[in-house]
Amino acid sequence: MGLEADYRLAMQRLPGGVAVVAARAGGRDIAAVVTSLVSVSLEPPTVLVVIHGSGRLADVLDVGSEWAATVMAAGQGGTVAWIAEPGRPDIGQLQGIDARPGEATGAAILDGAAWLECRTTAVHPEGDHLIVIGHVLAAGTGERDGALVHRLGRVRDVTSA
Ligand SMILES: Cc1cc2nc3c(=O)[nH]c(=O)nc-3n(C[C@H](O)[C@H](O)[C@H](O)COP(=O)(O)O)c2cc1C
Repeated sequence: MGLEADYRLAMQRLPGGVAVVAARAGGRDIAAVVTSLVSVSLEPPTVLVVIHGSGRLADVLDVGSEWAATVMAAGQGGTVAWIAEPGRPDIGQLQGIDARPGEATGAAILDGAAWLECRTTAVHPEGDHLIVIGHVLAAGTGERDGALVHRLGRVRDVTSA
């Protein structure tokens, strides 16, 4: 087996928390499911997210852009599957999904477990992805409990407190 296949198999075993990153561009919501949202710094609050270079978010998360990340909750696997569906149209990406525009950025915050609003301060291309650094402008928790964890190609609920 080649290195890429070995790498994929190894990384599939690492559980990843599931979030939805969304930005507003050209009057539309552009959104993607990610497992790559990571806290970088507390002072000041800073995160990073790793975005595929050919995905639609890659075009809109450049330096100075504003976006939101929603930490998804238990029971939201269906919403995540819908948002991650390949070949979704650009229009109405979040149609039918409970969401509101963030006060700081206007980007869509979903009805999830927690949320952040961010402004991109740096973008570092690495391989076929972009590492996007975001300063956190606002943060809060949602009404929903638990979490979603991605492992071995599946998204599962985590419901224990
Ligand atoms: C559980 C899960 C985790 C994902 N994590 C990432 C991620 O961290 N970064 C990323 O660019 N895409 C990730 N994707 C794929 C994106 O959700 C999306 O399908 C892809 O970026 C294509 O975007 P597009 O709609 O602009 O074509 C993930 C998908 C799933 C189902």
